[in-house]
Amino acid sequence: MLVAPSILSADFGHLARDVEAICEGGCDLVHVDVMDGHFVPNLTIGPVVVEAVEKAATKPLDIHLMVENSSFFVDLFAPLKPGYISFHIEEEKHPHRLIQKIRSLGIKPAITLNPHTPPETIEFLLEYLDMVLLMSVNPGFGGQKFIPSVIEKAKRLKALIEKRNPKCLIEVDGGVNDENVKELKAAGVDVVVAGSFVYKHPAGVKEAIASLK
Ligand code: DX5
Ligand code: ZN
Repeated sequence: MLVAPSILSADFGHLARDVEAICEGGCDLVHVDVMDGHFVPNLTIGPVVVEAVEKAATKPLDIHLMVENSSFFVDLFAPLKPGYISFHIEEEKHPHRLIQKIRSLGIKPAITLNPHTPPETIEFLLEYLDMVLLMSVNPGFGGQKFIPSVIEKAKRLKALIEKRNPKCLIEVDGGVNDENVKELKAAGVDVVVAGSFVYKHPAGVKEAIASLK
């Protein structure tokens, strides 16, 4: 299982230290939650802070846009050369066009689905994607409870991916811990995002990442 700790649960007063800790602790991606106060009822960070995260990170950034006008935000973050940028399908009228734009900038494109959105919605986009992010909470906040229907959704998505683009990864985000990770793995999930489980783990971030793997 690949692990992408979410820095939303880090101590922002010691952000570089907390980013270094997850990279040294064996994470695969650094998950960055960008919220605009419109698409979701929370406001987080912009390119100035993400630039500091990028400087401290030794693993690729996985930027999760939870914004209106995703294309504008792609332009803002592209100069930081993240590994992945994902945008929400619920927000974007022309997802195929935006996927092509992200790829033309040398970034791997990903699409995120809210808990209610069926995987079939993006069936005809799968061949253009490197990853699909399934939300297992309503986007906006860390520390929420895992919504179990994502397991069935991951299985259905996995079947579509096998048919359309077997190289495309499945990522799950929200309420992930060392218990539900086993079911996620069995459902075909490749990457888990974990914020509070990693940063609030009593044994430290390295142990937390190891237990998810
Ligand atoms: C929620 C964010 C998540 C969040 C995960 O909108 O997309 O990445 O930080 O936090 P936990 O793992 O605490 O649910
Ligand atoms: Zn996220």
